[in-house]
Amino acid sequence: KESGYEAWLRYRPCESEELLGHYRKYFNRVWFRQGLEIMRTAMQELSHGAGIITRCTVRLCDEGWQGAGIAIGLIDDFSELKDLLGNEILGTLPEDGYLMRSIEHEGLPRLVLAARSANGMLYAVFHLLRLMKSVQRLDRLNIAEHPRNALRMINQWDNMDGSIERGYAGRSIFYRDDEFVSDWSRIRDYARLLASVGINAISLNNVNVHERETLLITDELLPKVAQTASIFSAYGLRTYLSINFASPRQIGGLPTADPLDEGVRAWWKERADAIYRHIPDFGGFLVKADSEFRPGPYTYGRNHADGANMLADALEPHGGLVIWRCFVYDCLQDWRDRKPDRARAAYDHYTPLDGRFRENVLLQIKNGPMDFQVREPVSPLFGGLSKTNQMLELQITQEYTGQQKHLCYLPSQWKEIVDFDTFALGEGTSVAQIVSGKAFGRRHGGVAAVSNIGDDQNWTGHLLAQANLYGYGRLSWNMEIGEEEIAWEWTCLTFGKKEKVTDTICCMLLDSWSIYESYTAPLGVGWMVQPNHHYGPSVDGYEYSKWGTYHFADCHGIGVNRTLLTGTGYSAQYPSPQFERYESLQDCPDELLLFFHHVPYTHRLQSGKTVIQHIYDTHYEGAERAEGLVERWKTLEDDIDEGRYRQVLDRLQEQAEHAKEWRDVINTYFLRKSGIQDIHKRPIY
Ligand code: GCU
Repeated sequence: KESGYEAWLRYRPCESEELLGHYRKYFNRVWFRQGLEIMRTAMQELSHGAGIITRCTVRLCDEGWQGAGIAIGLIDDFSELKDLLGNEILGTLPEDGYLMRSIEHEGLPRLVLAARSANGMLYAVFHLLRLMKSVQRLDRLNIAEHPRNALRMINQWDNMDGSIERGYAGRSIFYRDDEFVSDWSRIRDYARLLASVGINAISLNNVNVHERETLLITDELLPKVAQTASIFSAYGLRTYLSINFASPRQIGGLPTADPLDEGVRAWWKERADAIYRHIPDFGGFLVKADSEFRPGPYTYGRNHADGANMLADALEPHGGLVIWRCFVYDCLQDWRDRKPDRARAAYDHYTPLDGRFRENVLLQIKNGPMDFQVREPVSPLFGGLSKTNQMLELQITQEYTGQQKHLCYLPSQWKEIVDFDTFALGEGTSVAQIVSGKAFGRRHGGVAAVSNIGDDQNWTGHLLAQANLYGYGRLSWNMEIGEEEIAWEWTCLTFGKKEKVTDTICCMLLDSWSIYESYTAPLGVGWMVQPNHHYGPSVDGYEYSKWGTYHFADCHGIGVNRTLLTGTGYSAQYPSPQFERYESLQDCPDELLLFFHHVPYTHRLQSGKTVIQHIYDTHYEGAERAEGLVERWKTLEDDIDEGRYRQVLDRLQEQAEHAKEWRDVINTYFLRKSGIQDIHKRPIY
């Protein structure tokens, strides 16, 4: 039975005889230059994929380019390419970019793949395989590609005991019982998946660095880290580690971890030197400091620039980066006190430090001001900083979006985020332009996301959640690609090109975020989840907690007043005209109304419905649409292998049941609070 393990790198023989003949002409000979390790990886991938598709052994040669075939090379060590493609076009090719061009030579078909960097080579090969998997011809290609973000990173939240913080697809593929795993093949297959969509960096451990993981930077564990890193290096990914800011005290025997203390600074320098002895292409540190009880510079009366810069100075001689997370807020709030607002925190902490971070520091900013809710506004910190490198943080793992039991295709959400206009430099300053570094001419930039994989046979628990990992990679490469295009690509690569299958699955994916949103927390208010594990409805689960996550529902109304005029003033963190848009009760988009305003249940939305009727209607519709996903999937029973068909069916059925629970809990809660009946008189309990 098919398990889904191959994910989108699932190769099958080409079924069209004509196309097969066409492909075979090219793969009769693949001409490349030996040397770099990544080139070896690229050739392995090409032989493997094309070998299966063409049902022939791919002939690799490193000399004598004659006849038909494919030529692959770095532009600098491949003079023939310069003659063929012209110096001009090659000269403008950015780092990690590549060209793919069909040419005819003496009546014989040739395909040329040229890249500036070794990584670019590998990306070109995966691109070629994607084209072949989606049954395209190779004789009219003229493709120039390059990534828009320099850093395209995955964050593992894996702990060395084998657990994964917010993991919903089994245990860690990296660690077991406080050690690294002994079988590395799964890690290698993960590296393949990541590289195939252009990801070039990975942090190997949870941002909450516990006791055992604090030791990852010691001589005891560095050899194993290096072994893991070498697997990723072969696929063009640099390895990062999450570090414990208190390490000098905790494992270094120093009395302090004060970032301005000379002993502490020397300790980190010595550790950085040691790390680079083991891992010459080590990426750097990912840091969660002064956040949710993690240690940080505040303990010593220092600020976050002091903390980040100290680490940056240690890494700088080796070309390493510090990625400093901005998820800093008061997590010991008093729910009785309505003045503090967690949503304000990142902006309030970091804008005063703009321009005070070293060149090799990036601030990693979560997409929204709260925490990966199904709907939040975009963090105003993007665009709030102009003299600091920024990085967007997304969450692929579905902590608040159904935990890979519910279908929720996240590229739909991410596209809204990256396209959001911050107006930081006037109209047209999108988040995508800011994080790439382009808007403010920053040296470093990019995007990171929390992984959704574990050791489940199909990687992601819900097979269709693979689309989120794939989609993240594609978007990190180019944020202009549409979510529809990504859905189509993924479906095609995973299930084949049959129109009925691709149409059905794509539509299911594209509807799924809106479906999930409709039966969970309404109108942007968020947080109506069970405490701690965050699965399933609990309207007041976080209402009287210390985490700063409230909806303030009473018998009259609901929502958080974040206006400047009468609320927490959060809305003023956005420049005009976003500020005015959110501040105004009339103009605030419906989907974020309760994030910005406290309104009576009878308030009329732009849609014309009252808030309370909107809640009832969307929850009824949402649960019905979840049921509809099951029915839509069932139409594919004869078109998809049984193994993968069943897995998905089981999850969709579970979702449909659970959506009813959500519907009834939410509707009942609001009927009881408001005393206002559903105008359609549907059952509410
Ligand atoms: C959320 C999540 C935590 C995680 C934290 C973070 O609060 O629930 O598990 O550690 O985000 O991003 O640091």
